[in-house]
Amino acid sequence: MSTFHKIFYTPSNKMEEVQDDSIALIITSPPYPMIEIWDDIFSKQNPEIGRALEEGNGIKAFFLMHEELNKVWKEVYRVLMPGGLACINIGDATRTIDNNFQLFPSHATIINTFLELGCQSLPEILWRKQTNAPNKFMGSGMMPPGAYATLEHEFILLFRKGRKREFKNSKLKKKGMKALIFGRSEIRGFPIYGWI
Ligand SMILES: C[S@@+](CC[C@H](N)C(=O)[O-])C[C@H]1O[C@@H](n2cnc3c(N)ncnc32)[C@H](O)[C@@H]1O
Repeated sequence: MSTFHKIFYTPSNKMEEVQDDSIALIITSPPYPMIEIWDDIFSKQNPEIGRALEEGNGIKAFFLMHEELNKVWKEVYRVLMPGGLACINIGDATRTIDNNFQLFPSHATIINTFLELGCQSLPEILWRKQTNAPNKFMGSGMMPPGAYATLEHEFILLFRKGRKREFKNSKLKKKGMKALIFGRSEIRGFPIYGWI
């Protein structure tokens, strides 16, 4: 099967080159809100984010960061064809701001946004990243009210724009099947058969 590639070096919150309802599959890993390495990128997009962080107002910064991502999700919805899929890799963030530890649940915020845009949620993939650290359930000390579980996973969220795609005739169905690569792979020595 031959493929065609075109790369646009432009921000995803304004995909002017891409037509409405034209994309079958979108896979992306955006900057994760409240993970420190992405603070600068978000603050450049909206300086109010930098100010909220400086003031120790984590939750304000978190929602402002999501406002920036929401511009991208709006574009994602526009360009997806009906029945098209969006796969979003996102990690929640744990962070201590103003001496206060908490989780910033980006996956929940993104799910809400996609549902509001009109997408349907599909079962997500949980990317487990286990640690064997001996203190993993006692992150902040031995006092039960202060202890918390270690964050050991990220999400790959899956959304569909509207209902399942239907192939109107057998020719189109055949074309769809051609996109399927069925084969054999291995994980830790065990053979896996499936879509690769
Ligand atoms: C979590 S990283 C993804 C890294 C990528 N998957 C890789 O393996 O290199 C997020 C990326 O999104 C880029 N980014 C941030 N805002 C963007 C925007 N509005 N449009 C397009 N890319 C953006 C960042 O520069 C960063 O490279």
